[in-house]
This record gives sequence, structure tokens and C-alpha cells, in this order.
Amino acid sequence: MKSTLELIHERPPKHTLPRELYLSEAAYRDDLAMIWHREWVFAGHTVEIPKPGSWFTFQLGDYPIVVVRGDKGEIRAFHNACRHRGSRICSEAKGRSPKLVCPYHKWTFGLDGDLIYAPSMQADFDKTDQGLHPVHIGIVDTLIYVCVADNPPDFTPFQRDLAEYLAPHQLENTKVAYESNIVEQGNWKLVFENNRECYHCEANHPELSLSFLDNPSVSGIAGAEDPALTAFWNSCEGAGVPSRFKVNATGSYRLLRTLLTDGAKSYTMDKQPAVGRRLDTTGLDDIGVLLYYHYPNTWNHFMGDHAITFRMLPMSPTETLVTTKWLVPKDAVEGKDYDLENLIKVWVATNDQDRRLVEETQRGVSSPAYVPGRYSDISEYGVNQFIDWYCDTMRQRLSN
Ligand code: FES
Ligand SMILES: [Fe+2]
Repeated sequence: MKSTLELIHERPPKHTLPRELYLSEAAYRDDLAMIWHREWVFAGHTVEIPKPGSWFTFQLGDYPIVVVRGDKGEIRAFHNACRHRGSRICSEAKGRSPKLVCPYHKWTFGLDGDLIYAPSMQADFDKTDQGLHPVHIGIVDTLIYVCVADNPPDFTPFQRDLAEYLAPHQLENTKVAYESNIVEQGNWKLVFENNRECYHCEANHPELSLSFLDNPSVSGIAGAEDPALTAFWNSCEGAGVPSRFKVNATGSYRLLRTLLTDGAKSYTMDKQPAVGRRLDTTGLDDIGVLLYYHYPNTWNHFMGDHAITFRMLPMSPTETLVTTKWLVPKDAVEGKDYDLENLIKVWVATNDQDRRLVEETQRGVSSPAYVPGRYSDISEYGVNQFIDWYCDTMRQRLSN
């Protein structure tokens, strides 16, 4: 059997990956070790855990994690594994408790992770150094990232860039109006590949195509900048709203504000704002949509009235969890300031359409008859950029 590194070397430039990289257990283990267990991964929002003792959990590759707000409002992440015999401590997706109590034998940890109570242990048992193992945490505005590596990559350039672009959106004044969780029967790379192009939008996303504009310059193709987008950037940045295309040297994240279709203000069926309150403070009538992705697991849309965030987590070689959250101003009232059905309709439909596309692709690439296919230089520039990033990252790390 060929190694992941050999398979990556075999990939013809500008082509999809060899079959095994989408389905073998060995490639999946390499993806976890070289990417998921090393990179900063988007976890959730500070506004989801507003009070001391609020927490949420998730599974990052091999690691169960809990993110919790402490007594003074500080946010920490811990490995969600008891220091006694290893049970997960928090087994629900979210909750709130004054302490973290292991359900197995009631060892009790403070919100700072310290072990404070261990019933029936011998008198000479020392509770110090028995606290929950911390996980590195990075917060940008209200977005929580974690990294399970011993030495995480530098988070500050991304933190600085994203904070600047997010500032007008007042995310600290938001709440999650709706959350969806979908398990897609596809490899995580197929899920991100699908996200990095809109070549498929016209044929598959009738609802989204009403408002989302497939603009190749959004992918950053040199010379593809169009005058309408440049004029839009000039007007936004003239009003102090960062908008221009920004990508880091490795291409692992990208930010830009772009236009929606003519007359569209939001991702709704009538193209009008879904929420009768503003999320932003720009005073501009049209701020389009701020898009950002951060490899390996998130892409996001921030508009004038609401925002939608996406978190992807791998579950197996051929299963990926996609969590979508709709954020609205926290004082917006459902039924008065927004209609939930109207708010979520476009992306609930789009997510389901994307799920089907990913699952059909997984079925096809699993065939022994599959051979890597050629990307379009125009419409799949972004996909090729993602797969190049993946191959470069894996090649570098697997060679060391
Ligand atoms: S495993 Fe947690 S208290 Fe025993
Ligand atoms: Fe799509």
C-alpha cells in the first residue's frame, strides 16, 4: 500500500487527489496527526457561553474538548477527560454548572480546571497536579479557536487581520438564533473542496443563487478584479470598513468583503434583510458580505443584519460533521424582528444540497475506476488552492 506522502507526490498538478486520500484509514490518520492535531481549529462563539459555568463540548479528531467560561468571565478550554480513570466529564453538547463534576466517581473540578474534590481517596492522595489538562485557546473578537498541539502555530497574524475585518459587525452583541448539525457521508477534504467553488451553484443552489454572486475575483485570481467590486471596496474602506481581499502567505486563511447580487442585502428568498435590526455600526446602506475561511475547518458569512458561521469536524475517513450557526443581534426577538423560517431557509436548503454533492462525490471517488480529474483554472481556482495547501502542508510535515 502506498504511503500518504507517495500518494501526494503522485497527484498531477491542478487535479483532484488520488482516491485513497479520500477514503483510507491510513490517510485519515495522517490528516489528523499532521493537520487537525496541529492547526488552530474553530470551536464556537463566546456568546454561546455567556455566563460563568457555561460550557460546550466537541470532538477534535481524537480529542474530546470542553470550552468553559470561568467565574471572572475568562474562557478556557480543557481536554474533556477525567484525571481519575479518563471518563469524559461533560457528555452533553452544552450546559452550565458551577463546577465540572465527573459522572463516574464524582471527582470535581473547578472552572479553572483544578481538582477540588475527590471522594474516598486515601489520606495521602495529593490533589495538586491533578487538574484537567488545558488546551491552547485563541479568541478573535467572539470567535473561539483551539489547538491541541504542544506548540501551536503563531495565531497572532490571523487574529489581528480577522479582528480588524470583524470589528464593524458588533458580534459581542449577538446570539445564536439557530444551529444545525449535519453529518455528511464524505471525507472532510471533499466538504472543503465543495465550499471553495461556486462552479456548482447555478445547477444546484436555486435559493442561494438569488443573492450570492459567483465572482471569480473572490478567489483571488490575479487580474480578475472587476470594477464593480473595486468601487464597492473603495466606498466601504472610505467609510472605515475593511473590505479588500487579504490572504496570508500560505493561503491558509482569506478575508474579503464582497457584493451580493444586484439589490440583495442578505441571504433570503426576497433578498431583503432577514432581521429588522442592524448587526453592524457602519451606517452604510450596503456592506455586502464579509467572507472568510480558515483552513482546515471554517468558512463564514457576515452581513449587515445577520451572520452565518460554519464549523467542520472530521469524524472518520468518510464522515464529516458540519455545524452551522445563524447569529442575530441579541435583542432581536423571533417573530417580531425576524422570522426564523425566513432567516434560515436559504442556507438550510444550500447545506442539504451541498451535503448531497459531497456524498455523491464520495461515492464516485471511492470507485476503483476513479482517476484524479482536472480543475477549471477559472471556476475552481479556490479548490485547487485548497488542495495545493493541503498537499504542501502534508508534504512538508510528512517529510520531516
Ligand atoms: S473517571 Fe472521573 S471520577 Fe472516576
Ligand atoms: Fe454549495
